[in-house]
Formats: sequence, structure tokens, C-alpha cells
Amino acid sequence: MPDLGQVEAASGDGLVAVESSEVPGDWSERWRAFHRPLEVTSADGATSIWLRPPWEPARPGAFEVVIDPGQAFGTGAHPTTRLSLELLLGCHDRGLTGGPVSDLGTGSGVLAIAAARLGYSPVTGFDHEREAITAAVGNAAVNRAEVSFERHDLRSGLPDLAPLVIANLTAPLLELVAGRMDTAGRPDRLICSGLLETERDRVAGAFARTGLTPRDFRALEGWGSLLLEAA
Ligand SMILES: C[S@@+](CC[C@H](N)C(=O)[O-])C[C@H]1O[C@@H](n2cnc3c(N)ncnc32)[C@H](O)[C@@H]1O
Repeated sequence: MPDLGQVEAASGDGLVAVESSEVPGDWSERWRAFHRPLEVTSADGATSIWLRPPWEPARPGAFEVVIDPGQAFGTGAHPTTRLSLELLLGCHDRGLTGGPVSDLGTGSGVLAIAAARLGYSPVTGFDHEREAITAAVGNAAVNRAEVSFERHDLRSGLPDLAPLVIANLTAPLLELVAGRMDTAGRPDRLICSGLLETERDRVAGAFARTGLTPRDFRALEGWGSLLLEAA
């Protein structure tokens, strides 16, 4: 599309100002410059994961997860993903490892793959986006991680949940998930992310009914992640 300069466009009964600029044809490659390697470390510093895209060189000796998000969400760099990983690494450091994991809203599969690489098994990632499942399956193969991915819309119901659930979604979707969980079907441990720092009480309150209570809360750049555990 050519550069149109500043124009106005009809919208309903009004006119809206539209500003445009030409996008160079290599945009689909240039975004790669923003997908930089990143280290995520547990709170006590015991375990670190080095996240990198496949086009960046490997870091010798690092515990790596290689992620190409394709058309899905999840380079690993978003605060909600980093906070989820920190909480997952914290569970691992407490010796809560090796068991099954469900990853709700798996996107590129980054959290599910990290869980599998940490020794959790079986791990299943769910997403309603076809592009997410495609990217996640490819990433699992690159990382030689044993993870199953299923296309599933959480709005239509919950899949069978593992004792440890990771859910990097949004506050409204987390509330919907909470509303569908009863005390029998709830996990022992839930890492909730995608909420704003200010939505902490609202999300914790939604899960309180199921017997899950806050054990940890971490915040970064206005985003928050909660670790909830059964009493
Ligand atoms: C914030 S992204 C998290 C991606 C990845 N887990 C991460 O941490 O980087 C949320 C993901 O939830 C998925 N999602 C949103 N609504 C959903 C729904 N109703 N059912 C299943 N997945 C959904 C999106 O497609 C997206 O991949």
C-alpha cells in the first residue's frame, strides 16, 4: 500500500483522522531483530533457562529452550511469560517436579516446552488458535520435548486438568476458567498470568471458591502472576 499521508476516513456518521506510512517489504523478516535471547531465573537463583530464537547462536552450557513463535504469541520475552516461568522454576526448585502439567493458552508452547525440559511429564498444551498449535508442535520438535498440543477453546469448557496448571490468559478468561472449576476438578497448583497487577485480588477471589489460595505473587511492568495452591 502506498504512503497516503494524512487523510480522513468515514466511520459511521463521523470522520476519523488516518495517518499512514509505507512499510518496507522486508517487515516479515525485520521483526526478528526484536526477538532477542533472554535468561529467566528462579527467585532464589537456583535454576535458569536461556530462551533464544533458532537464528541466534546457542549459549554453551546453558539450559536452553529454543522458540520460534511463528504466528503465535510467545517469544518468552513478554512479562506475563517471564513471570510464569519464574513461578514454574520456583515450583521446580521446591522439588515439585516430575508430574503432569496442563498449559492453558499455550501460544508458541514456550511454557509447556520449558516444563517438559524441566522434567514434568506428561505435558499438554491447549490453545484455540490453529497457528499456535502449528508453532508449538514445531517448537517441541526442535527442543526434543515430549509435549502434546490440542486445539481447544476454553470458552467451550475445560479439558481434563493436570495437578499443575499454567494459565497465561487474561483476567476475564481466568475468571471464566475459575467459574468452570469445582473443588473436585481443580488442580493442586495453578500458575495464573496475563493479569494486571491491579487485578490480583479479583483473580485470586475468583479461585478462592475452589479452595485455591495465593502462595506467591510476582509483578513486572504492571503485569502480575499468581501462584495459587490448594490448602
Ligand atoms: C498471553 S498468550 C500466552 C502464550 C504463552 N503461553 C506464553 O506464555 O507466552 C495467551 C494465549 O491464550 C490463547 N487463548 C486465548 N483465548 C483462548 C481460549 N478461549 N481458548 C484457548 N486458548 C485461548 C491465545 O491464542 C494465546 O496463544
